[in-house]
Amino acid sequence: MCGIVGYLGKNEKKEILLDGLQELEYRGYDSAGIAVIEGDKLNQFKAIGKLENLREKTKSFYTEGFGISIGHTRWATHGKPTELNAHPHLGAYSYVVHNGIIENYQELKEELQNDGVTFLSQTDTETIVHLFEKNHKTNTNVFSAFEKTIARLEGAYATLLITEADPDTIYFAKNGSPMLIGFNGNDVYFASSDTPIIGKATEVYYLEDGEYGYAKEGEVKIFDANGEKTFNKQTLATDKVAAQKDGYRFFMEKEIYEQSQVMGDTIIGRVLDDRIYFEELDKDFFEGIYAITICACGTSYNSALASSYLFERLGQMRCEVEIASEFRYKEPFLTQKTLFITISQSGETADTLEALKMAKAAGMKTLSICNVDNSSIVRESDTAILTRAGVEKGVASTKAFATQSMVLWMLALYVGQIKNTVSKDIVKREINAMLHAPKAVQVDDKLHERIHRLSKRYLHGHGFFFIGRDVFYPLALEGALKLKEISYLHAEGYPAGEMKHGPIALADSELFTIALMPKSMHYDKIKSNVEELSARDATILAISPKPFELADDFIQTKYDSHPMLEFFEMMVVTQLLALEVSVRLGNDVDMPRNLAKSVTVE
Ligand code: AGP
Repeated sequence: MCGIVGYLGKNEKKEILLDGLQELEYRGYDSAGIAVIEGDKLNQFKAIGKLENLREKTKSFYTEGFGISIGHTRWATHGKPTELNAHPHLGAYSYVVHNGIIENYQELKEELQNDGVTFLSQTDTETIVHLFEKNHKTNTNVFSAFEKTIARLEGAYATLLITEADPDTIYFAKNGSPMLIGFNGNDVYFASSDTPIIGKATEVYYLEDGEYGYAKEGEVKIFDANGEKTFNKQTLATDKVAAQKDGYRFFMEKEIYEQSQVMGDTIIGRVLDDRIYFEELDKDFFEGIYAITICACGTSYNSALASSYLFERLGQMRCEVEIASEFRYKEPFLTQKTLFITISQSGETADTLEALKMAKAAGMKTLSICNVDNSSIVRESDTAILTRAGVEKGVASTKAFATQSMVLWMLALYVGQIKNTVSKDIVKREINAMLHAPKAVQVDDKLHERIHRLSKRYLHGHGFFFIGRDVFYPLALEGALKLKEISYLHAEGYPAGEMKHGPIALADSELFTIALMPKSMHYDKIKSNVEELSARDATILAISPKPFELADDFIQTKYDSHPMLEFFEMMVVTQLLALEVSVRLGNDVDMPRNLAKSVTVE
C-alpha cells in the first residue's frame, strides 16, 4: 500500500515530509520521494529502497519560508521499484503523488502519447500529471484543469498535485484509497493515515470517496459531484501505534478487514469484461507449456494446492504442488515443458527460493506470485505477478492468502483462455464470480460478534479437525494452520473423505470438527462425512449456506452459487475463529511464539 504525505505552510518541509513517510513505513514500500515548491524554486528527490537513502540524498537540502510540498512511499503495482517509477511523477512544471490503481491508465497513456507526451516511467500514476498539463493548456484556470483531470480517472486513487502554475496551492482528490487533511492554524497537512500528522496537526478531516479540492494558506475548499461542500473537522488521535492499526486490536484483524479492498486491487486491470489480462505475461508465455508445478511453504502452499484444482478444471493442465523443503531434496524429475510457479508473500522464504533456483538450473520457465516486488524470489523468476495485498504485518497470513488464491484463480482461467479449454459461457460465469469476490470477503460485523461469542466453547478439547472436499480441503488445511499458529491448540486439516481411513478413531465430544460444507461443491458427500463424525459424538461446527441440523454450532454463510465465492466467505470465517480463540487465550495474535514473518533460513 503506498503512503502519501503533504504539507503547506511556513515550517521546514523536508523534515515534515520525511518524518511523515517514516510513520508510513509500516505500510511497506520499495522507493520514496518528495517534491517542494517555494516561490519559484522547485526541488524534488527520489530514492529506491529504504527512507534513509532519501534522507542521504536530501541531507544538504533545507526549505525556508512559505511553500507547498508532497511526499510518497511506493509499493510497486505497475512497474519495477526504480527511481523512474518512484513518485512524485513530474510533468513539465507539475508534480503528482498517488496511492491506488488507475484502471483506465493504458487508454489515457495512449491518448497522451498520441499527443506527443513522453513517459519516463511504467506507472499508471504518471498519466495523472500529463493529463493535468494537457488540460491546463486549454484551461488556464488551474483548479478547473485539475477538476477535468480527476473526472477522467477510473479506479482507486488518493492523489496530491502541485504545480509551478499555482505555487501556493496543493490540489487533492480521493476515491477508493484513504487520505485525510490535517489542520493546525493556517498550516495544512495531507496523509494516507493519522500517524504522519500526529503531533503536528490538531484537527483532521477524513476525505470521502469522490471528494476533491484545493488547499491554500488558511483555506481548504472541498468539492464533490454536487459542487462545493462544507465539512467538519474532528480532533486528531494521539496514539501512533493504535493509529497504525486504524483502530483494530491487531494488525491481523486489520488485515482480515482489508481483504475486501485489496482483493479489489488484485483484480483491477486484470479481470476485464470478457477475459483475463495479465500485463506481466507475454502473449506466448504458455507456448510449449503442458504442465505446471507449484512450489511453496505454509499458507502459500495451501493457496497453491487450492489452485491445482482450478488449473486442472479450467486450464485442463496437469498441476502438481510441492512443499519447497521436500522438493529441494527429493531429486525431482524436471522438464522444460513444465512451468515452475513459486508462491510467496515475502519473496524471501529460503526453501522456496532454493527450489526456484533448482528449477531455473534445470532450464524451466519460472513465474512467481508474490506480494513484495524486488524480493529475492521475484528477482530470481523469469516473471512475476504481484498480489497487491499491501504490507502484511500479522505473522499469520490472511490477505496474502486471499490475494494469492485470487491471482491463481484468474491465472487458471487465463490458461483456459489461452489453451481454449473453456467455453465463452464458462469464462463469463467465472468472471462474474470473480467480480463478486471482494464482496464475499467483506467482514460482517454481526458475524464477527457471533464468532467472538462462539469462540469461548473452543478453548479446550483434544484438538480440531478442519475438513473439506475439493478446494475446501486446502482451505481446511489453511484454517487449521491459522488456528494452530495463533492459539497454539492442535488442529489438522483433512480431506473429508479420509475420516474413515483412520482419523475418525479420534472422534468424541472433545474433538471439535470444523466442517466446510459448501452448497455448490459435493454437498451431499461432505454431509455424509460429517454425519459419520456426529454419530460418534464429535462436536461439530458446520460452516455452510445450508442449515445442518446435526451441527452443535452452525455458521450460515451467504454465497451458494459458486465454489470460489463460498471458499472466500468461509476463509474469512476460519480466520475470525482463529483470531477470536487466540484473543480469549490471551496470546500475542500478531507475533505468535516461535514464528517469524519470513523464514529466510532452512
Ligand atoms: C502463514 O500464516 C505462515 N506465517 C507461514 O506458513 C508462511 O505462509 C510461510 O512461511 C511462507 O511464507 P511466504 O509466503 O512469505 O513464502
